Amino acid sequence: MNPGVPLAAHLSPRVTEDGSFSLHSAEFGEGFHCRSGALLEARRTYVQPAQLERFSAGEELRVVDVCVGLGTNSAALLEAAAPLGLRLHWFGLEIDPAPLALALAEPSFRRQWQPALGLDQLQQLRDTSQWLSPHGRGEMRWGDAREQIDSVLLRAAGRCDLVMLDAFSPRHCPQLWSQEFLAALVALLAPRGRLLTYCSAAAPRRSLMEAGLQLAALRSGDAAASDQGGPGQVWSHGTVAAQVLEMSSPWWRPLSLLEREHLASRAGEPYRDPGGQAESSVILAQRQRAQALSGAEPASAWRRRWGLQGGDR
Ligand SMILES: C[S@@+](CC[C@H](N)C(=O)[O-])C[C@H]1O[C@@H](n2cnc3c(N)ncnc32)[C@H](O)[C@@H]1O
Repeated sequence: MNPGVPLAAHLSPRVTEDGSFSLHSAEFGEGFHCRSGALLEARRTYVQPAQLERFSAGEELRVVDVCVGLGTNSAALLEAAAPLGLRLHWFGLEIDPAPLALALAEPSFRRQWQPALGLDQLQQLRDTSQWLSPHGRGEMRWGDAREQIDSVLLRAAGRCDLVMLDAFSPRHCPQLWSQEFLAALVALLAPRGRLLTYCSAAAPRRSLMEAGLQLAALRSGDAAASDQGGPGQVWSHGTVAAQVLEMSSPWWRPLSLLEREHLASRAGEPYRDPGGQAESSVILAQRQRAQALSGAEPASAWRRRWGLQGGDR
């Protein structure tokens, strides 16, 4: 056992297909990143659609990383921001220090980053819960993101350029996809700010829309020209949301008719957590009841109409 690395029986290491290091959580029954690559996902879902080239050298970007985990998304962002002369004022939300500590104890993870750009900041975070470097400054808020979000709102409401939402899936971690928590994230955004997530489930999309944001579907990167909702491209790689969003870009496309009907079906029934403290089982049971009472089209009927296989999203 490596001294300084916490015992974390709920986490096991895995190497993703692009060779980057990731973890699997037994507690949530889910991997931390998609199989095709932790680093690939960080760049494709968060860094590229952030379009850092929108900002001018010397600017300081306010960024909130919701569910820091190993820190892959934030390190990839830093790596892209620094050569553009951008500095970050970064806030991180995370309940468990073990993923970051485990990753930093893993030589292959450390080799993913340049010593002064990524690795240094993650080590500072692990050791002091903050980082300071020529590339900006960062503050970690350890604890349940639903509780910690208030302190970030106090510091940065309406002023954030980027919110990266990388919680486990709504089925396994509904508390971080509730209408209430998403509304708090929306309140962080500056007028030009963007919320990015890998998630394309109907309920969080509907909640973001009802909170006043425009939404688009992240393209699948390697098949940018063909992801208009055809059979192989029914699900996008995630969602971008902002107060004002140009509807098409190299990184996203408008929601397809299939996706818009998905939002309107019972699959779009929001997760609710008005007190910000509910257990996931309570949130899921409440939503099931609301779905049963809903006059909206059942998700199964929507799926049949579109000739789709597989489970509800
Ligand atoms: C999919 S992983 C995040 C991966 C991470 N973004 C990365 O780049 O490595 C989800 C993370 O959410 C954290 N988490 C789960 N419930 C949470 C909560 N209520 N508040 C804050 N973090 C939470 C887990 O500990 C885990 O690290």
